[in-house]
Amino acid sequence: MNFDRHRRLRASHTIRDMVRETHIRKEDLIYPIFVVERDDVKEEIKSLPGIYQISLNLLHEEIKAAYDLGIRAMMFFGIPNEKDACGTGAFIDDGVIQRATKIAKSLYHDLLILADTCLCEYTDHGHCGVIDDHTHDVDNDETLPLLVKTAVSQAKAGADIIAPSNMMDGFVAAIRQGLDEAGFYNIPIMSYGIKYASSFYGPFRDAAESTPSFGDRKTYQMDPANRLEAMRELESDLVEGADMMIVKPALSYLDIIRDVRNNSNIPIVAYNVSGEYSMTKAAAQNGWIDEERIVMEQMISMKRAGADMIITYFAKDICRYLDK
Ligand code: PBG
Repeated sequence: MNFDRHRRLRASHTIRDMVRETHIRKEDLIYPIFVVERDDVKEEIKSLPGIYQISLNLLHEEIKAAYDLGIRAMMFFGIPNEKDACGTGAFIDDGVIQRATKIAKSLYHDLLILADTCLCEYTDHGHCGVIDDHTHDVDNDETLPLLVKTAVSQAKAGADIIAPSNMMDGFVAAIRQGLDEAGFYNIPIMSYGIKYASSFYGPFRDAAESTPSFGDRKTYQMDPANRLEAMRELESDLVEGADMMIVKPALSYLDIIRDVRNNSNIPIVAYNVSGEYSMTKAAAQNGWIDEERIVMEQMISMKRAGADMIITYFAKDICRYLDK
């Protein structure tokens, strides 16, 4: 009888380690932190167990905890004291993210700070841009200059990577031009250009206090049913100058990550979003799953699909697993 003996390469732990195709490293991880402008808050977010809203004056503790575990890339989301119709808090020099970035950069010179460039946490209506009074929809071209201002102010504060998540058309081109004109031609753009209008963002909106006060984000974020559309978004972002591409959410969109991998040669980032984290944590808290093994399997699946990096609320947990 003649057949393949695949089990030869599975016979022991050592040989399995030797032939393993996909690995998780601390360098792959980007840790999101929710920063509150008012003082003395350290409050666990109910729908994101283990993740906190943290004040600027306490932020150093959280940065140090993550840094000591080996995390070298962090992404800040701001919760400002004041919101208005055009999201001014996103682009003022002493805005919450600008201040958080300065704090982080003064603590560790080798820590990468990613800035989420969007207006939804800063607008009083919770949308990612300014609203057109007639259509009651986000006005694309009126929003672009505000995003440019936001990115430039984030770069001025010391951000190492600009990660725009607003899903306006032309945002990569506009921000690239704005950064270049301000002298930041060396600051890369990690584009969230493939971002679906997903229900998996629910817990994030609790944490960032950014639920839209009317309507939804379906006129700018993508329809979860569409795969070819993601390739059109990818094409324009590549032409406009994106240095890296985020696919978001991740676990229900592994096919999209693979499509991006097969159709481009830039680094890919999977955003393991809030709802994906919450569902896993909830099942683990009930004792229904083995948290560590499920989390590592999820991480491996994103990398196997083609991701180089992962933005994940599990980052600290994963470092602890890797240290064992
Ligand atoms: C800002 C933004 C959102 C997320 C990241 N940046 C929310 C949204 O689009 O509503 C979601 C991340 C998560 O769910 O973890 N636009």
